[in-house]
Amino acid sequence: MPNRLETRREQAPAAVVERLVSLACLAPSVHNTQPWLWRYDAGVLELHADLGRRLPAEDPRGRNMVISCGAALHHLQFAARALGWETAVERLPDPADQALLARVTVSRTARFGVARGDIDLLRTRCTDRRRFTAWPVPTDRLDDLCRRAELWGARSEAVTSDAARFRLELLANRAISFLEVEGRRLLEQDRWIDREGPDGIPLELLPDDPDPLHARSRFRPGVLEDTRLVIHSGERVIALGGEHDDVAGWLSTGEAMSDLWLEATREGMSVVPMSQPMEVESTRHEIATTVLTGGFEPHLLLRVGWQAIGRRDLPRTPRRPLRDVLQR
Ligand SMILES: Cc1cc2nc3c(=O)[nH]c(=O)nc-3n(C[C@H](O)[C@H](O)[C@H](O)COP(=O)(O)O)c2cc1C
Repeated sequence: MPNRLETRREQAPAAVVERLVSLACLAPSVHNTQPWLWRYDAGVLELHADLGRRLPAEDPRGRNMVISCGAALHHLQFAARALGWETAVERLPDPADQALLARVTVSRTARFGVARGDIDLLRTRCTDRRRFTAWPVPTDRLDDLCRRAELWGARSEAVTSDAARFRLELLANRAISFLEVEGRRLLEQDRWIDREGPDGIPLELLPDDPDPLHARSRFRPGVLEDTRLVIHSGERVIALGGEHDDVAGWLSTGEAMSDLWLEATREGMSVVPMSQPMEVESTRHEIATTVLTGGFEPHLLLRVGWQAIGRRDLPRTPRRPLRDVLQR
């Protein structure tokens, strides 16, 4: 008979690991590339970056790829907790293999019971690119979201003053204009829109009327109706980053982004990542030195705001089948 302690440390059966990986894969990823690969062997679950899914033109160093994987790693831990399992995570366990991002063991906790609401949250979270309303997100809410991000080892800063917001918008638009003339990047981006398979971004999720003056979309117009005029958007921006612009920092940023995004969803807020200003190195540097005051390396910008009440739910982006992302 196992003693009580051993019973509590019971290792997760394969079926539970499969369920957790499926929930982890609901995480957001750049262009919905889902650039992750899970391997499960002898009770250990490994998370690898799927290098074949990196975007060579837009993301040559793999920053957005690793942030996406970090989000999946956080989703896995969040799902495990919600279902009564405990995770022990070793990040970047092999210095010689930077694509091996984490090793995770899953065991039973003393706490039983399923937090159904948390599982629903994983399914509810989405990227809604329709314009935000004019209601400003209060500063204390932004500060709460930033504090959450920092629990994951990331650095964060809410851009709140009018001067900083104006400058950020200017720099973001400049980055988009710069990228628009780079055919290689545009072609790559276009390849991830309206695909046949279980990845990429459906046209139904891209606004039909991207606002030319404010918060320009990186994508070509889609078919999502979005004609509501907002003269003064209440959106705010949170910058996430770290001490360094490296794989360990990107992984933390991904976990922090996921935690922040799920909490914002719980509170009825909407989050839309804006990675283009980070994809132009000179703009990223200017944002770090002339917009942010925290003295850290920014990795990703997040627009945070409120969607109008009563808007219809959006269809979900597709996900790759488990057999393609989990190896045993
Ligand atoms: C690292 C990263 C960068 C992203 N950059 C952008 C962006 O610049 N513009 C945008 O509209 N969405 C961006 N997204 C959102 C993805 O397109 C979205 O997560 C993906 O299509 C899956 O859809 P879902 O979030 O609704 O599940 C980004 C997501 C991640 C994780």
